[in-house]
Amino acid sequence: MEKVALVTGGNSGIGYATAKLLKAKGYDVYISGRNADRVQQAAVELDVKSVVADMSNSSDVEQLSAIFLEDGLDILVNNAGIANLAPLERITHEVFLEIFNTNVWGVLQLIKELLPALERRAGSSITNISSAITCKGVPGLSLYAATKGSVEALTKTLAIELAPKNIRVNAVTPGAIDTPIFGKLGIKPENFPEELKQAFAGIPLKRTGTSEEVAQVIVAQLESTYVTGAIWAVDGGVSIA
Ligand SMILES: NC(=O)c1ccc[n+]([C@@H]2O[C@H](COP(=O)([O-])OP(=O)(O)OC[C@H]3O[C@@H](n4cnc5c(N)ncnc54)[C@H](OP(=O)(O)O)[C@@H]3O)[C@@H](O)[C@H]2O)c1
Repeated sequence: MEKVALVTGGNSGIGYATAKLLKAKGYDVYISGRNADRVQQAAVELDVKSVVADMSNSSDVEQLSAIFLEDGLDILVNNAGIANLAPLERITHEVFLEIFNTNVWGVLQLIKELLPALERRAGSSITNISSAITCKGVPGLSLYAATKGSVEALTKTLAIELAPKNIRVNAVTPGAIDTPIFGKLGIKPENFPEELKQAFAGIPLKRTGTSEEVAQVIVAQLESTYVTGAIWAVDGGVSIA
């Protein structure tokens, strides 16, 4: 039976590269995203199926999950996420709710709703996307770091909780990866704040990574059948520098 994969936030960056690699490996790939035009365009480019779903909207997440309930789902890449660059003084409860709803509740709710679909397929596998920011502090990224710390904690706990159902749960921690995420923060590489420049200068491999390099690790993790509860770094060595 053809294996079915869902990549959230599959219209851009790491999600796009992961969907492309999974498609090349023969999976029946679905991508989801919040913007209909962007998701549709990416789906045409990648020759995959697309679903419009905002991960911060609970009814969207329910509708997305419903697609897989009858036939099941083998692979879930919980990739959709947003960043927020703000010093402590500028953080508000509203901003907290927006980023936690997307990066944490979206991840948790999707796994919850998809549980029957994942149980239908033997040895299904989930990879969540955390960040090297959980190992290395960067000023202005405390809220983002808190969401990714939550993702790692729920990854380890769910790995234990879902192991009896033969569902594996892992995460990867990308470092500085060249994707549109920085532009969405409203900053271009030439205008990076000093804190980010310093963080990038400390990368042992002396360069940013590519979405394709992260996608390789995600797919390897998804297919590593004796790995669960693991957090794999893909960060040019920055987390141990
Ligand atoms: N790039 C890095 O250096 C880096 C490092 C560590 C971790 N990460 C993590 O890697 C993941 C992918 O990020 P990326 O760098 O590839 O950034 P990206 O190019 O901005 O991709 C993020 C994807 O998530 C989607 N998304 C955001 N909010 C959403 C929502 N509420 N509902 C549905 N989709 C939503 C985006 O849609 P739109 O196109 O509509 O915005 C986009 O498709 C994120 O979880 C990010 O935190 C990135």
